[in-house]
Amino acid sequence: MILLTGGAGYIGSHTAVELIEAGYDVLIADNFYNSRPEVLDAIEEITGKRPALEEIDVCDVEKVDAMFEKYDIEAVLHFASYKAVGESVEKPLMYYRNDLDTLITVMEAMKKHGVNNLIFSSSATVYGVPETVPLVEGMPTGCTNPYGWTKYMSEQIIQDVCHAEADMSAVILRYFNPIGAHKSALIGERPNGVPNNLMPYITQVASGIRPHLNVFGDDYDTPDGTGVRDYIHVVDIAKGHIAAVQYAMSHKGAEVVNLGTGNGYSVLDIVKAFERVNGIKIPYEIAPRRAGDIAQCYADPTKAEKLLGWKAEEDLDAMCKDAWEWEKNITK
Ligand code: WQD
Repeated sequence: MILLTGGAGYIGSHTAVELIEAGYDVLIADNFYNSRPEVLDAIEEITGKRPALEEIDVCDVEKVDAMFEKYDIEAVLHFASYKAVGESVEKPLMYYRNDLDTLITVMEAMKKHGVNNLIFSSSATVYGVPETVPLVEGMPTGCTNPYGWTKYMSEQIIQDVCHAEADMSAVILRYFNPIGAHKSALIGERPNGVPNNLMPYITQVASGIRPHLNVFGDDYDTPDGTGVRDYIHVVDIAKGHIAAVQYAMSHKGAEVVNLGTGNGYSVLDIVKAFERVNGIKIPYEIAPRRAGDIAQCYADPTKAEKLLGWKAEEDLDAMCKDAWEWEKNITK
């Protein structure tokens, strides 16, 4: 059985679908802090199989221990964490407490119960303000906000445990910018309140929830002056986890791997692609730069292909189309 902490969330739910379709038994541990129980119904509708569920907070040592007693867990995919950059600046202790506590609690249970395979959700945010792009795994790291530091510290904790425990195996996945949704439009991203991220904001403008997009800065040192990122389809991210689990089960030690496409697109590239693919105008206004944003961030995805045999397959048009199909489904 594969345990997905935070498995009802955006990336976790897509990964659950891919795992089930690849023949794995899936157990989701989630407290539905930022997700909904109906996600389990959607996973069942897509795959024909309902994942096992433990509705727990993975900071709860006793409940996590009992879960590891109850199920025969072979690998853990640890998604459970808080993830809003701005909120982490306002409430750093909340972020350090939760995002480090969930990891340590899960890793202690893994050690106690002899579970040796861990896949961790890290982020390209650990590259901080990059000196050059594309970003390669060995490049210097450093963060600009508490959310980023929790990922940085978590990576260090995992490296240290793998160093100390000869049987331990971990793949630390640095996600770039996951967007889009499952082709069924039954699962996708559901931000609470005003979206922080670009694509959910655009889909809410498209559906009329928000009047226009604010483009945060048009004077960056990029081809059109707007920020450049490596947007990657969430189903490709999910498939990267399958490759990572398979790798972890046959190797020892810790590896850090970028999950990106290697392509950089600007904010205006995304707006134009969304408009063209979906035939909807996205009104936008140029706004001041957002604090903490960088000009460019995109991956060198070579290591993922060499080590895991994984490569992103979906293009930007598919990301824009699938994001919109999902938004239509939840706002209709
Ligand atoms: C992308 C581009 C914005 C919204 C963040 C976190 C990262 C990761 C993913 C999460 C930038 C611009 C955005 C808007 C805009 N963490 N933008 N108007 O900043 O690359 O990454 O989310 O779990 O750690 O930092 O992603 O989607 O917020 O922004 O112009 O309303 O879109 O300035 O250039 P980002 P994003």
